[in-house]
Amino acid sequence: MTLPDKDPTPAVSGRIIPAAKIQFLPEDRLWIAERIQEVLESGQLTLGRYGAAFEDKFAAFCGMPHAVAVNSGTSSLEIILRSLEAEGKDVLVPTNTFFATAAAVVHAGACPVFVDMDPESFGVRPEDVEKKLTSKTAGVIVVHIGGLVSGRMPELAALAERKGIWLVEDAAHAHGCSLGGTPAGAFGIAGSFSFYPTKVMTCAEGGMIVTRDRRLAEEARIYRDQGKASFTQNAHVRMGYNWRLSEPHAIIGLKHLERLPSMIASRRQTAAIYDSGLSRLRHLAALQVPEHGICNYYKYIAVLRERPDRKELKNRLRERYGVSLAGEVYEAPLHRQPVFEQYASGPLPVSEDLCARHICLPIFSGMSHEQADQVVYALEEVVG
Ligand SMILES: Cc1ncc(COP(=O)(O)O)c(C=O)c1O
Repeated sequence: MTLPDKDPTPAVSGRIIPAAKIQFLPEDRLWIAERIQEVLESGQLTLGRYGAAFEDKFAAFCGMPHAVAVNSGTSSLEIILRSLEAEGKDVLVPTNTFFATAAAVVHAGACPVFVDMDPESFGVRPEDVEKKLTSKTAGVIVVHIGGLVSGRMPELAALAERKGIWLVEDAAHAHGCSLGGTPAGAFGIAGSFSFYPTKVMTCAEGGMIVTRDRRLAEEARIYRDQGKASFTQNAHVRMGYNWRLSEPHAIIGLKHLERLPSMIASRRQTAAIYDSGLSRLRHLAALQVPEHGICNYYKYIAVLRERPDRKELKNRLRERYGVSLAGEVYEAPLHRQPVFEQYASGPLPVSEDLCARHICLPIFSGMSHEQADQVVYALEEVVG
């Protein structure tokens, strides 16, 4: 794809729009600092009342009875897989996801089997999942890429049930997302969230498991604290690890969870400007949120009609129009990553094409209308 060579207008030069930005309001920083002072004074720095409150509030936010806080989205996935006794079995994983989804499968002693991506949602299609099922398949992990919950989630959940395998959601991108009133994390046996700083809400580093299954929640609590039967006993009954979330992290998470609805509303305003702007472009099409779906726009994903020189496109948008594109989801499918080549089985052509042909527009809570307009203008000029 050849990019048109136009000059930027003086109106837009000199103002850089970042790809992403974390927002902590000044009063929220103060609230967090005061509570961190309090836990420093009390000495209760881990597995305390703020961690418990964060779990309760997050569970309520997802409409789930149980939430278990851990120190990352990676550990939350591994703990779920260990609690489900996935060791020695196959777990289906989308090939277009972050390294951690498949790495957690390997760390839990299971074997990842990669599934091609759905061009509509960037998730997986039930027919592709069904083709990969064997007698060794224990379950499937679906990922709500960029916060988009696929319109086919009910079919995927029904397929898992029919075939007697479990469905786990890697909802690392999907805080506050839903389909038909069902929140991300509530479609299968368990959902896993990440609070890494790039995410829509953060607690610096952290993760959360949500589930309706009381036994799974109990197992998760055992695994996250060195496999101990309880906090006060020293009987180690599982091969756990230190996957605990500290109180300062929980305090940050509590405040950001409170701000989550307004942060999502802000992102949705930006997305609405992009939706209308992109509808005028011939070479770029936005992914569509399904009817009855709510997307948090962790990423705003748009697909180019032709395969671009993405590096050149990014350079031109940044240098001439001050627009920084966000990281792709994902630049390369996992079956192409050297560490996972041993698990590759058969071609996954949709991912080969779409991983190379999409871009993610800048989006963050607090982005102004003017900034969103500037992005649309730059795309009109550079992509057309
Ligand atoms: C899809 C996905 N799964 C899992 C993770 C792992 O989360 P964490 O970084 O909190 O370990 C991430 C990202 O950070 C992710 O994007």
